[in-house]
Order: sequence, then structure tokens, then C-alpha cells
Amino acid sequence: MELARRRGFIWPSFEIYGGVGGFYDFGPLGSILKNKIIQKWREFYLIGENFFEIDSPSILPEEVLKASGHVDHFVDAMVECKKCGNSFKAVDVAREATGKDIEGMKESEMDEFFAKNGVRCPDCGGELGKVFLFNSMFRTTIGPGSQRVGYLRPETAQGIFIDFKRLQRHARGKLPFGVIQIGKGYRNEISPRQGIIRLREFTMAEAEVFFDPENPHHPNFSRLADERIRLWRAEDQIKGEEKLVEVTAKEAVEKNYIHNELIAYYAALTKKFLVELGIPETAIRFREQKPWQRAHYSSETWDAEVHTERFGWVEVTGIANRTDYDLSRHAKFSGEDLTMVVGEEGRKVLCHVVEPSYGIDRPLYCVLEHAYTEEDDRKYLKLKKWLAPVEVGVFPLLKRDGLPEKAMQVQSLLRSRGLLAEYDDSGSIGRRYARADEIGTPYCVTIDHQTLEDNTVTVRDRDTTKQIRVPIERLPELLTSLLRDEIDFEGAGTPVKK
Ligand code: GLY
Repeated sequence: MELARRRGFIWPSFEIYGGVGGFYDFGPLGSILKNKIIQKWREFYLIGENFFEIDSPSILPEEVLKASGHVDHFVDAMVECKKCGNSFKAVDVAREATGKDIEGMKESEMDEFFAKNGVRCPDCGGELGKVFLFNSMFRTTIGPGSQRVGYLRPETAQGIFIDFKRLQRHARGKLPFGVIQIGKGYRNEISPRQGIIRLREFTMAEAEVFFDPENPHHPNFSRLADERIRLWRAEDQIKGEEKLVEVTAKEAVEKNYIHNELIAYYAALTKKFLVELGIPETAIRFREQKPWQRAHYSSETWDAEVHTERFGWVEVTGIANRTDYDLSRHAKFSGEDLTMVVGEEGRKVLCHVVEPSYGIDRPLYCVLEHAYTEEDDRKYLKLKKWLAPVEVGVFPLLKRDGLPEKAMQVQSLLRSRGLLAEYDDSGSIGRRYARADEIGTPYCVTIDHQTLEDNTVTVRDRDTTKQIRVPIERLPELLTSLLRDEIDFEGAGTPVKK
């Protein structure tokens, strides 16, 4: 986190006014990293899955969220200290004070639990008030006056359900079809203290996959059927067993661990996505939510979790079977027919939905933590090369003899070919390499006196620190291929002896 702040990945928002919990800015490097993660997600879902993308407002009128159940159910049980006035999630207070899990209890049962165990305020030791429910949506009004209530969206999904009539026409009566939306979501978290793991404004990438409940299959299931996933089933969690079962996606369905083929498919796809970002398979598991942990719309939810040193297991994706909950509720509340006519026989279907819902900020943190490497006296970010926010460092060996001018020409050449190349001439070459390593720059190009003679430069590899010498005219293609892992570094030029 120190590195992330210092080098411009992540900054606390509103810093000069003392900051506000749960809000973070992405700095120049963080923004590129975040956009690269989003772009990769689009490659998986828009291109790979052939889904449609929409972009709908992030303020929703109250009637939408009444229909979706969020006004009534998007709530947390809270307690407030009578002495210091601080508020806490009841389950957190109970866990901290007694080690016990009170999730799923009614408010009155929680009150009894606190009284029986003598639980007091974790901040000041004061007496706690009664448990109450807090809706974590940000409320606002639409237009002047306060007639029309609205909320900042707690999920992007609702925009997709609202557009269903038009979207199903776009799909021309073919099921399953999927729709994605990427954008901000808002939740008024109670006491966010975990950096970008718990944000009040965050970026979501969600896919709603509409399918016929009489045919709950993914047409390309075989593509990922043999992908291995590690599952922590609700049944084992309830028994208190931290037992992971490792199975293929196909076995997960056959053994009835996962009850829906589409969920198994998207779990396998999520694993592939996380591995593509550089998360090791051993740090990924899928945890089934216990019935009382599930959102009000879900009949089955599996969370992809990534293990981190700082926060333990972190949920990065939720894959839920939302059934026909959303469409049936919107049909009822709007009075519109949201069925779809499918097949030759013209059967009317009220679609069911499986939803893989990704946070983007959390995986970004996980990527940074897993990339952070300390080796001997080197500290560097071993980011996947394609993900690096600076792809190439361009350095003149010295700040004289025309080397800076030549280096700037090389930088322009690389930028004109779409590469994120940064020029740096400050400090010794060793320090410049170290600075580039620290932000995960995979390749550094150095312009030296030999460059002026024969138009060749050295290229240094971040992970091995080995160097090769190559002609400038080959640089753009060569670096592009190296960044895509298409060619081997050492064979790409003449080795340079140190
Ligand atoms: N759409 C998933 C969620 O709100 O968590």
C-alpha cells in the first residue's frame, strides 16, 4: 500500500480535506491498471461470451429499487453505542467480542445474544443500544424539491433488467443470451477500514445471463468442463470444516456440488480470468454462501475469493442464480409483460438469470499484492507484462552527448506504435532500473554511445535483469511480441554481458 500510494496507483480521496473513509482515487498508474483489467474483462465477456453491453444511469428512481427488493432487503443489522455514538455491524461486534457468528439471527435474537454475553462498544466500552436495520443505499432526490426519491445504484444489474424488453428483441428470441454493464456502484458501508477492499463507490463489471429454466445449460460448457476449481461448500462451512474439494466444472455439476451448469461454467471462467490477471490458482477458491448470507434475490451463490496476506480471503466475484426474481418483480411492479417468445413453437418464457458479478477494485488490490516481490535486495512488481501501466522505460545512459534527444525519439517511436513508453533521465541508470522495477515495468530500453554509432539499444528484462541488444527499427514489433509473451526474451537479440 505504501508503494501503491507513493508511485501513483491508489490515493485516499479528498486527502487535502482529511479524507473520507471508503473513497479512493486511482492515480496515473492505477487508472491504467484498472482500465487494463476492465479491457481484459470485456475480452472475456463481450468478445469471448458474445454478450451485449449497455450503459445505463447510476441514479435509479425509487420504484425500480422497490421492485428489485433493495429498498426492503438491502439492509444490515447495526448497533449504536449509547456513549460514543459510533455504529457497527452487529455481526462484526459479536465476532470480535465472542468469536461467534450471529449471521442469520433476527434482530431480537441478536439483542438477547449481546445482553447474555455482556457485549459492549468495541471503541469505548459503552453500553450498546438495540439492534436496528440500516439500508446501505445512498438516497437522493431527482430534480428540485423532494418529490421524487432516487438512489445511487447498488448494482449495475438493475439497468439491464429494466431494459429487458428491448434487449430480448436484440437477441432475436434466442436463449441463452447475456448482457454486461461496467460502471460505478454505491454502498454506504458502515465503517470501511480496509482500503480499496471496502469502498463506498466502486467499479463493478456484471453480466446477466438470461436462460430458459427448461434448458438451464451453457451452449459451450464443454469448453470449460475440464477446468479445475476448488470449492468450499456451505455444508462444510456449517459443519465448521475448512475443507476444499477440488473438482472439474463438469464434476461440480455431476456431483451436485454446484446445482446449475451456468454457475459452474462462470466459476471456471472466473478462475481463468483471475489467473490471466496473475493470481496463482492456489490463491483462488469458490465459497458457497450459506442460505442466510445470500442476497434476497438469490437461490444459490458462489463467491470467488482470492487469498491475500493483508486481508485473508477476499471476495472478488459473486456468481448468483437470481432465478426469475428480478424479471417477475419488474413485470409485476411495472405492469409490463417481460416474458420472451422462444423457438419455432413460440413458447412464452419468463427467463431465469445467472449473474457473474465482479468488483474491479478488489482484484486490482489482489493483483498488486500478488505481484509484489522481494528478492535479495530487489523489490519489484512481477505484474503480468500486458498489465503493466508502464510497458517500456526509455533511458539515456547519460544526460549529454545527444543521448537524451535520441532517447526521446525512441520514446516517440514506441508511443506512435501504441506502446506505453516512459522517458526517464533522472539519477543513475541503476536507480532508474530500480524505479521501473518497482512499478512493474517489464522492459527498459537504454540508449548509449553505441546507439549513436550503430542505431542499436539495450533492452533489459524486469524479471531476470538480463539484457539484449537490438536495432531500433525492430524495437516496436519486438517489444509488442515480448509483452504478449509470443517470443522468448533471450533469443530476441544479442545477449549483453554484464
Ligand atoms: N449484483 C450483485 C450484487 O449486487 O452484489
